[in-house]
Amino acid sequence: MPDAVKLAFGPFAAPARGVLVVFCDDALKFGSATTRALGAAAEQVARAAKAERFTGKNGSALGLSAPEGLKVSRLVVIGAGKASELQQFDFVKLGGAAVGKLPVSASEATIFAELPGGAMRADRAADLAQGVKLGSYAFDRYKTKRKEDETPPASRKVTVAAGDPAAARSAFAAREAVADGALWARDLVNEPANVLYPEEFARRTGALKKLGVAVEVLDIARMRKLGMNALLGVGQGSAHDSRVVAMRWNGGKKGEAPVAFIGKGVCFDTGGISIKPAAGMEDMKGDMAGAACVTGLMHALAARKARVNAVGVIGLVENMPDGKAQRPGDIVKSMSGQTIEIINTDAEGRLVLGDVIWYAAQRFKPKFIVDLATLTGAIMVALGHEYAGMFANNDQLAERLTKAGQATGERVWRMPLGKEYDKMIDSKFADMKNTGGSRHAGAITAAQFIKRFVDDKTPWAHLDIAGTGFDSPQSEINKSWGSGWGVRLLDRLVADFYER
Ligand code: BES
Ligand code: MN
Ligand code: ZN
Repeated sequence: MPDAVKLAFGPFAAPARGVLVVFCDDALKFGSATTRALGAAAEQVARAAKAERFTGKNGSALGLSAPEGLKVSRLVVIGAGKASELQQFDFVKLGGAAVGKLPVSASEATIFAELPGGAMRADRAADLAQGVKLGSYAFDRYKTKRKEDETPPASRKVTVAAGDPAAARSAFAAREAVADGALWARDLVNEPANVLYPEEFARRTGALKKLGVAVEVLDIARMRKLGMNALLGVGQGSAHDSRVVAMRWNGGKKGEAPVAFIGKGVCFDTGGISIKPAAGMEDMKGDMAGAACVTGLMHALAARKARVNAVGVIGLVENMPDGKAQRPGDIVKSMSGQTIEIINTDAEGRLVLGDVIWYAAQRFKPKFIVDLATLTGAIMVALGHEYAGMFANNDQLAERLTKAGQATGERVWRMPLGKEYDKMIDSKFADMKNTGGSRHAGAITAAQFIKRFVDDKTPWAHLDIAGTGFDSPQSEINKSWGSGWGVRLLDRLVADFYER
C-alpha cells in the first residue's frame, strides 16, 4: 500500500507550512491557539466570510489565498457547525472535509485540531486524522497521463496540530490500522478482474501473515474433497481456478470460540450462461466487495492487536459463460448435503456463500457469523446506496450492528425473514432452487437461501452490500469507486461488544 499521505502530529505553536486548515463554529468563532496563529489574518477571514456568506455551517468551507501576515500559501476555514453537538464520526468527516479542500497540488498542510471551546481531545484529533487518511485515498495506479492542474504531489505531508500531540499520535495507531484495512479493501474492489482473479486475491491475503494472521488457502482438490460443489459449480466455467481463503486472528482468550466473517468474492460476475446485459457489466469487477471487506477487517483487527479471536473466510470464484459452465436446470449437492436446482446462473453469490458459511461453521464453531455480499440488485431498489440490507436470526446481533452502523456512518437497515419467503425457494426437483422465480422480494429470497446453510442456534447476520460496496455517492471520507464499506462497521462491532 503506497501512502498518498504522510501524517504527523505536532504542537499548535509550530509554524504552519503549505496550507493551513482551521475550524470555526457557526458563530464564526475560533479557539485561542487558532486565533493566535491567524493573527492579523483573522480580520481578513471575517471580511471574506461576510462577502461569501460563509456562516460556519458544518462541512462548509472558506478559502483564502496567500493570507496577509501568514507564511502559508493558503488558508482554509472549515465550518464545524454547533461544536457541542459533534459526535465521533463528525470528527472523522471533518478530517475528510479538510483534505477535500486542499488544492490538488498541495504537498504540505497543517490542520489545527481545535474548536472554539479549546483543543480537541486527543482521541478526537486522532479521529480527525483518520478522516484525513480515508479522504486522501485515490486509486490511480493505472493513470499514466494527467492534465497539468490535476497532478498530485508524489506524496503529501499533513500535520495535525493538537493540544497533546503525543496522546493524539498514540490514539491514532488503532485508527490508522482500521483505515489501512478500509483502504486495502478499496484497492481490492477497484482492481480490474484481469488483475485480481481468485488465485491473485488469495495470494494478496498472504500479506496478513506478517501481522500474525494464519492464512490458509484451499485449492480445487481440497474443496472437492470437502464437497463444496455449489461454490465449484459457479467457478467451473472460468479459466481461473476458484479458491477459499480462511484467515485466523487469535488475539483473544486461548480456546475461546471465534467471531466469524464471511465474504462473497466473485472476482467477476458475467452472470454465466444466464448472461447479464452489456450495459454496466464492468461494475461486476466489484462483486468481491464482501470478500474485500473481510480481508480489510482482518488487517484492521490484527494491526491494532484486537483482543478477540476472529476468523475471516472468503469464497473466491469467477462466474463465466463457457462450454464447461454450469447450466440452468443443473442440480448440485452442496457441502451441507442439501441439493440445489440452478434456475439462474446469475444468482451465484448465494451458492458460494452457502458452502463457505457451512464450512466456516463446521470448522470454527463460531460465536456468531456475519456475512457480507454484493448479493442482489433488489436491495438497491429498496435502500439505494445509504444503507446496507441486514437480515438476522438474532435480535441482539442485529441491534449491535445497527448501533455500530450509527457510530461509524456505515449504516444497516434490518429487513424481514419469514417462512412465506422461504417457501418461494422450494424446488420441484431438489431441496431448493437458487432464485425465488420472481423479482418480488429478491433480496429477501436470497437471504432465505443463505439462511438454509446456518443452524438456528448460531447468531447470524447477512449484509447485502450491493448498494454500498461500490459506486456509492462520494462523501468527505470516500471519493473512490470501491468504498471499503464494512471495515469500520465490523471493527466497531468487535471493539464495542466482543473484545475482552
Ligand atoms: N452480483 C449481482 C448483484 C449486483 C448487481 C450487485 C448490481 C451489485 C450491483 C448478483 O450476483 C446478481 O446477479 N443477482 C441477481 C439475482 C437474480 C438473478 C435472482 C440480481 O440481483 O438481479
Ligand atoms: Mn450474479
Ligand atoms: Zn454476483
